[in-house]
Amino acid sequence: MKLTVNGGTSLLGEVKTQGAKNAVLPILSACVVCRGDVVLHNCPDLSDVRSAIKILEHLGLIVTREKDTLIIKCGQIKNCSVPENLMREMRSSVVFLGAILASCGCADISMPGGCELGPRPIDMHLSSLKKLGAEIKDEHGRLKCRVKDKLCGCNIDLWFASVGATENIILASALAKGKTVITNAAREPEIVDLANFLNACGAKIYGAGESTVVIEGVDKLHGCEYSVMPDRIAAVTYLASAAVTGGDVNVLNVKREHIVSVTSLFEKAGGNISFGKDSVRLKQKERPKPLYIVKTMPYPGFPTDAQAIIMTMCALSSGTTMFVETIFENRFRHVDELVRMGANIKTEGKVSVVNGVEKLHSANVNCTDLRGGAALVLAALSAEGETKIDSIYHIDRGYEKIENNFKALGADIKRISP
Ligand code: EPZ
Repeated sequence: MKLTVNGGTSLLGEVKTQGAKNAVLPILSACVVCRGDVVLHNCPDLSDVRSAIKILEHLGLIVTREKDTLIIKCGQIKNCSVPENLMREMRSSVVFLGAILASCGCADISMPGGCELGPRPIDMHLSSLKKLGAEIKDEHGRLKCRVKDKLCGCNIDLWFASVGATENIILASALAKGKTVITNAAREPEIVDLANFLNACGAKIYGAGESTVVIEGVDKLHGCEYSVMPDRIAAVTYLASAAVTGGDVNVLNVKREHIVSVTSLFEKAGGNISFGKDSVRLKQKERPKPLYIVKTMPYPGFPTDAQAIIMTMCALSSGTTMFVETIFENRFRHVDELVRMGANIKTEGKVSVVNGVEKLHSANVNCTDLRGGAALVLAALSAEGETKIDSIYHIDRGYEKIENNFKALGADIKRISP
């Protein structure tokens, strides 16, 4: 599948943000440790979500979808092994490990492997689960894990505020004996959403969203009805379409505190930002100003997932911006594709220097990863002429029918089979 975009027109109008992919995935993993029915609202229909559902069904849970609600019948899982093909479908499938271990005392999964962003080590996940009492053997790329009796709560200090490791520890310790204290935990809002979901199921988790998280293990968890938080990265993606086309876009279903590290950059670039109760609007009257330096940080700092999106805006700005990517090894793969569209960007290691140009031009480009793909759509929306974007399966991992939202803003964008 490809997207064709005839860009160059200012986007105007209103879109509603989908539920957060990076909250739904750990919450679906949490269903493995629940016993009872879970009703999950605001669940986007994404390929990563479909992959997570396949893992749940493989483990014996029953999942049905009614529009954007998932109904999940959670019971004792029928096995603890996840086949390689299911593990490899989704990079973050390692987040199932802690939940499977907590649920049945054993787990047999394949190493999740790297992805487009570079090697994705899981050393913190594994060392933390071992501290909780898991025996983990790496046998030819399969992780064979077992717990003698029950996982036991303990103090876990992370050398880096890893989102996935924090989630895995929370999932593993929710049913452990005693108390677990995570120091230097990741503070992303998606972790707060996971903790809120688990607490609604009877867990005792305190301090999620702060650097120290305390989990008091309980005997069992029941089901609940829950609504997933809005996707903060999808929200800023649609806002950016106003910045790159000189438009005026209102995005519904956002939480201001989740996105201020990005909306403040839109304002610095000369955009007019206004917040409603659960909405944010960006009007871009003139060419974006340069940002000089943008550095990705763990939350609440500027998110790495918005780096490619903001880079497209800077590629059209009236000056120079230096991007420093501190989270992932290889998160500038979209740069070569933006250069094919006329961007002036030089990359050296974890630093990219962007010299803004007046206009980008249409070209045939290829998505390299999820957020890099979104950045190419934004570049195509700004460029006159027809741009063809290939490998859009990357985009479909995290954006629900991205073309529909941009069409609603007046874009000439179509999904075509090659
Ligand atoms: C989550 O990935 C998100 N994915 C990513 O979003 C996001 O970019 C990232 O957090 C940072 O915010 C999901 O939530 C599904 P990390 P995760 O563990 O958990 C290193 C998107 O676009 N590290 O915080 O993998 C790791 O190599 C995706 O939606 C270790 O070294 O992120 C990376 O350099 C992309 N050892 C850094 O930490 C470990 O054991 C951040 O990883 C774990 C991580």
